[in-house]
Amino acid sequence: MSDVPLQTIALEPAILYFGTPVVLISTQNEDGTSNLAPMSSAFWLGWRCILGLDASSRTTENLRRTGECVLNLPSVDEVGAVDRIARTTGSNPVPGAKQMRGYRHEQQKWEVSGLTPVDSETVAPPRALECPVQLEAVLAAENGFMADDPIWKDGIKVFEVRIQRVHVHPSLRMAGQANRIDPDRWRPLIMSFQQFYGLTPGKLQASRLGQIEEATYRSPDVDRARAIDQLT
Ligand SMILES: Cc1cc2nc3c(=O)[nH]c(=O)nc-3n(C[C@H](O)[C@H](O)[C@H](O)COP(=O)(O)O)c2cc1C
Repeated sequence: MSDVPLQTIALEPAILYFGTPVVLISTQNEDGTSNLAPMSSAFWLGWRCILGLDASSRTTENLRRTGECVLNLPSVDEVGAVDRIARTTGSNPVPGAKQMRGYRHEQQKWEVSGLTPVDSETVAPPRALECPVQLEAVLAAENGFMADDPIWKDGIKVFEVRIQRVHVHPSLRMAGQANRIDPDRWRPLIMSFQQFYGLTPGKLQASRLGQIEEATYRSPDVDRARAIDQLT
């Protein structure tokens, strides 16, 4: 630690995206094809995920209509694929706010990204084969956002989805453990202030939280997910 006194300055950054993992959401379009979209306003609680999505996105429309999605988690190796479909939308025409930011309509997101769609087991939207983590999910709840602002209140939706199948590349599994991901092997792609980052390899230091047995967090959603039949 330096001996310079700690100080703060007051700042007004337009965004407060301090860094979260990128999620590539696949959803099914009305014509049976599928859409793929990068997002990163996501966090995890048990086998649930909370997603903050632009109300005008094709993903939002598809999720509401079908109640299904796949949350594909790209690693740092998929940064090119994510960037190739940045500033695109499956919506046609392109919604006004996106036009202003230089978005274009793109129907062929899979082809443009270079990622490979493979069938899911319990939901219609496909998984992205190259992403090391692919989570099949169903919509559990939809909530509003910024209800206290008369202009912005309908612009963003918050979705709670429940995971019902977890697929991971075998290289992520913790040695000697049937059901654990090894965080030393997982290299999430991080979006921070609109730029892409990875994590520093290895742990920074021992973690007190990490002393808690992981199994104590297991929720009834895991058994719920087991009871779900495969589509085919
Ligand atoms: C790295 C990255 C992170 C993003 N995070 C979000 C997000 O958290 N929420 C959101 O609504 N849009 C986010 N976007 C923008 C969406 O990708 C954009 O709204 C896109 O048009 C959605 O595609 P769709 O209209 O086909 O669903 C992000 C884009 C990138 C490249």
